[in-house]
Amino acid sequence: MTTTRTPRIELGHGDITQMRVDAVVNAAKSSLLGGGGVDGAIHRAGGPTILAECRELRAGRFPDGLPVGRAVATGAGDLPARWVIHTVGPVYGHGPAGSLADCYRSSLAVADELGARSVAFPLISAGAYGWPREDAIRIALTTLAETPSEVTVATLVLFDAETHALAERLRG
Ligand code: APR
Repeated sequence: MTTTRTPRIELGHGDITQMRVDAVVNAAKSSLLGGGGVDGAIHRAGGPTILAECRELRAGRFPDGLPVGRAVATGAGDLPARWVIHTVGPVYGHGPAGSLADCYRSSLAVADELGARSVAFPLISAGAYGWPREDAIRIALTTLAETPSEVTVATLVLFDAETHALAERLRG
């Protein structure tokens, strides 16, 4: 039976790679082969096994890359988490409407498949992909709060103090 429960939402502050959670979400690029921002931090802190698994995914399930709004898991290498869930956010102003919300929904669906109960999310698309922070925070909080999942705690991790304060205000 599909669940009707929804995750409890928490706000976190700082580096997502240090979170002691079951799964950490990566704001990846479609190639899955690493980059800057959260992606770079996760691959640096997690070590080479994450990239090796990403290369296997490219060789197998996703020869053309991971589509925007979709999510896929790898192990987490040296991170405290067990899994990394890679999702590709839309570049602001491009891509189908709703695809940013799709990232949060598909990441929770993958977390359910894994049996992850605590998941940390970065503010997807709000860095290199240019999404305005306030809108990105609203979409993250609304989607995480409304998506049925067996995940009990979803933590939205804001990297800097100003964005964290903004998220606190928007959550009310
Ligand atoms: N922990 C938590 N949040 C972080 C971290 C970190 N270690 N590093 C950066 N952030 C924040 C940024 O401040 C921003 O608010 O994560 C948010 C998302 O920024 P990006 O990582 O740039 O992600 P995105 O906008 O989705 O762009 C993805 O950037 O580097 C590339 O490979 C990546 O091409 C992909 C693109």
